[in-house]
Amino acid sequence: MALPSLWGLYNLRSSPFFQATLRADSQATPLRLFVGRQRERQLLLTTIGSSASSRQAVAGRPGIGKTTLVQTVKADAQAEGYWSSDEIIPISAEGASEQLLGQLLSGVYDSVLANCPTAAGPEVEAAQQLVRGIRLRGGGLTVSAFGLGVGGSQSESVATPPEALLLDGPRVLRDLMGYAIGQGARGVVLHLNNLENLSEADATRAADLLRGIRDQALLQEGLHLIVVGTRSVFSNPLVLEPLGLADVEQLLANRYGSLQLDPARPCRSPVERAVVQRLYELFRGDLRGMLKALEDGITALLGLTSAGADVAPVGLEDLLLSLRQRNQVELQEQLGDTAWERLLAWAQVDAATAQTQAELVELWQVKQPSVSQTLQQLIEAGAVEALPRRGREAIQYLMTGISRLAF
Ligand SMILES: Nc1ncnc2c1ncn2[C@@H]1O[C@H](COP(=O)(O)OP(=O)(O)O)[C@@H](O)[C@H]1O
Ligand SMILES: [Mg+2]
Repeated sequence: MALPSLWGLYNLRSSPFFQATLRADSQATPLRLFVGRQRERQLLLTTIGSSASSRQAVAGRPGIGKTTLVQTVKADAQAEGYWSSDEIIPISAEGASEQLLGQLLSGVYDSVLANCPTAAGPEVEAAQQLVRGIRLRGGGLTVSAFGLGVGGSQSESVATPPEALLLDGPRVLRDLMGYAIGQGARGVVLHLNNLENLSEADATRAADLLRGIRDQALLQEGLHLIVVGTRSVFSNPLVLEPLGLADVEQLLANRYGSLQLDPARPCRSPVERAVVQRLYELFRGDLRGMLKALEDGITALLGLTSAGADVAPVGLEDLLLSLRQRNQVELQEQLGDTAWERLLAWAQVDAATAQTQAELVELWQVKQPSVSQTLQQLIEAGAVEALPRRGREAIQYLMTGISRLAF
């Protein structure tokens, strides 16, 4: 966490380089900071509006802006009479269909309460009871859905056994949807997010889980689903391309404006324009990585500055140097010697070209299982990413902005 006073040097209340998604209900990260993506926004909204129920997918590399786009589309839909909430439903490849069903029911219940705080009646009560049971079991809520070791909690608990959910869930969901429509909602829009680093097998399994509740729940009239992930669980996803540089510059300008400390003084960028341009090239659309690099680099540099009345925007050379040292130390520590040396060898060929596993077998002079193991390690450390597979081609791997900054 940066001290506010550091950002105060630039007439900013706090860090303009936060990496959180934008939310309608947030003062710190409000939706009005959203830029661009007009076509995608319209496309998603039109599909919701054109049928009684819908299922859409948004795909794209980590940090490119998927979650934030869907947050905005939910607000657009709400402006057109749909009900929704800021909550994001995490889906995983673990668990069973009834868990997913429980999550959907929870999501609709949240949307009903968000749009109609006085909601009451038998449909709402029945839903409340099931949802409470689900949340007690830890089923369908963030922690267990991310698989962070809540071993045993499901089988040992007595509240709402999964069978009850399978039996009653679809009816309770249907009644709750009926209630929402009866109260004037045009429909309910749910936002499901899967994990960033879902393997291909897990993505297939998540798709199977969704398909498993298709007839009972997904086709429910009034229900509109948007599923987000690096790998899509539905066919024909809307694939997000990187925001253009002009949009990224606007994104930053919006943040500076919104965090302006003293309205009498102009807001200033903490970095020179060349910095944004260079990081934009290095991160190729990964906004989260780029924002984090800006925040880390500037925090480190400003920490060295003695607070004066006027500081100049940070320049490219200074920032790159600071980030290079920092990222080298961090990556080397995290990866250990072998993986670090292999990454180094890759960077020496060309940090910007994609490699396949077969090419890395050549480059590293080791067998395929060892390549695969090192890649997994590099991916977990955020040093490498796997690009979405194109047709039958071998998967391509790319050094992330983080590791490209280290060299
Ligand atoms: N169109 C946009 N306008 C403004 N900020 C954006 C936009 N897209 C992404 N961001 C910002 O970039 C960061 C990463 O976006 P996020 O939606 O979390 O990416 P993803 O879900 O693809 O990993 C967040 O801080 C978010 O606020
Ligand atoms: Mg996301």
